[in-house]
Amino acid sequence: MKKPPWIRRAGRALLGAGTTVVLAAGLLTVAATTSQAATQGPCDIYAAGGTPCVAAHSTTRALYAAYNGPLYQVRRASDGTTKDIGVLSAGGYADAAAQDSFCAGTSCVITVIYDESGKGNHLAQAPRGHFPGPAADGNDNPANAFEAPVTVAGHKAYGVYVAPGTGYRNNKTNGIATGDQPEGMYAIFDGTHFNGGCCFDYGNAETTGNDDGNGTMEALYFGDSKGWGWGSGNGPWVMADLENGLFSGVNRGFNAGDPSVNNRFLTAMLKGGPNQWAIRGGDAQSGSLSTYYSGVRPNAPGYNPMKKQGAIILGIGGDNSNASAGTFYEGVMTSGYPSDATENAVQANITAAGYTSGSTSTGTLTPGSRISLQATTAPCCTSHYLRHNDADDKVVISAVNSSSSAIDKADATWIVRAGLANTSCLTFESANKPGQFLRHFNYELYLSFDTGSGTFAQDATFCPTTGNSGVGRSFQSVNYPTKYIRHYNFTAYIAGNGGSNSWDSSTSWAADTSWLVDQPRG
Ligand code: AHR
Repeated sequence: MKKPPWIRRAGRALLGAGTTVVLAAGLLTVAATTSQAATQGPCDIYAAGGTPCVAAHSTTRALYAAYNGPLYQVRRASDGTTKDIGVLSAGGYADAAAQDSFCAGTSCVITVIYDESGKGNHLAQAPRGHFPGPAADGNDNPANAFEAPVTVAGHKAYGVYVAPGTGYRNNKTNGIATGDQPEGMYAIFDGTHFNGGCCFDYGNAETTGNDDGNGTMEALYFGDSKGWGWGSGNGPWVMADLENGLFSGVNRGFNAGDPSVNNRFLTAMLKGGPNQWAIRGGDAQSGSLSTYYSGVRPNAPGYNPMKKQGAIILGIGGDNSNASAGTFYEGVMTSGYPSDATENAVQANITAAGYTSGSTSTGTLTPGSRISLQATTAPCCTSHYLRHNDADDKVVISAVNSSSSAIDKADATWIVRAGLANTSCLTFESANKPGQFLRHFNYELYLSFDTGSGTFAQDATFCPTTGNSGVGRSFQSVNYPTKYIRHYNFTAYIAGNGGSNSWDSSTSWAADTSWLVDQPRG
């Protein structure tokens, strides 16, 4: 059988973690390494700078050194009950093991992201706005609690994975800036997970859920939309969603000073006060912040003075536009316009926190492990591995060996994740296309971003069994349990042992559905 032509392309480099803390002159002293909890949280630093947090959201760590309460709440599918996930110790990291055990054998969604500031500005499933969400009553979807695993200072944690249709909101806040009042905010995003849909935002928005006109929001945006504004390169960009406009600088449209940024962990900052605002950003694993814009309000009508309304949104636009995608780990909003020095100290705290991608082992079916899956059918295919195409989004097998190209090796490498629809099973994320998962559709296998639907979670969940041939492992579809991941004519499917599709052929079915779990090729 002729193999499809592979189109090779460059992969994205992930940047290494840093441990050194550099501090702004005369402000604060922070001494931390990636192996220790910080002695100050970002919100302690903002408070010391005179611009205290009025909202502090994180599913990974406490944002105050003294915080010892819940970080977020999960709800499991099996019985609809909820559980608060707290910190391992005051000022420390999320108790991810509590989520793992509560959600074992079922799936969980994040229902509440608690506000650590004491202001009660918690985030919950966004209600219908001008635009409806995909859930009941036009609400947005809550995020799957397992889709954004991460390690912080060696501690397992989970971020908030926003697929299109996912969104959080609080329209009745306390202490958030309104009108032209000054505020600041930062968020840590996954710089490799984004799209061009409107609008992956975190920050200040309309309390009405509607587009109430220019200047009625002030939120961080991350993505590669060019619908309103954009910066240099091809994106993605950190921009300010000021309503009816994603601004990359003083102009509507293009501003050269706003660079494309795609760090695996990205610090994004925005602040705004009377006729001044700034966008800043940097690598959340190391180094300092850069200022992408700092100056007067946009030279377009309606943005000076601002008319901020003080709701908080995450993952959506002000009018509940919910076509966007991204991943959020932590973020805060302040009262007052933080100084650059305060923000620099916050960035030092962030880089010292020790965010890493969470891949810990290799060659095993343990979540976090990097693996390759080797076909076992002789004589055709024993040098072949399950891989995604580069020319399209199909999944196939092809020969991969030590002299294969780096891209071929990476295409054949998967990161094992807890099953999105059942944590006793598994989901496979592409190693070189972060945020894209192996899923079946019409019984064929594809690489795909989460669509936000429950069907996607099921289509991307496979339960490992003893190999159907007695060799290796087989991977049973969670929603079609008679079907297993199979190669057939060098293309990958889910297939039954006999059935209506050509790839359900009983010939070689047992061998074609049995795989050796190997060390990662890439
Ligand atoms: O400003 C960009 C978007 O425009 C806002 O997020 C949304 O409310 C409107 O559609």
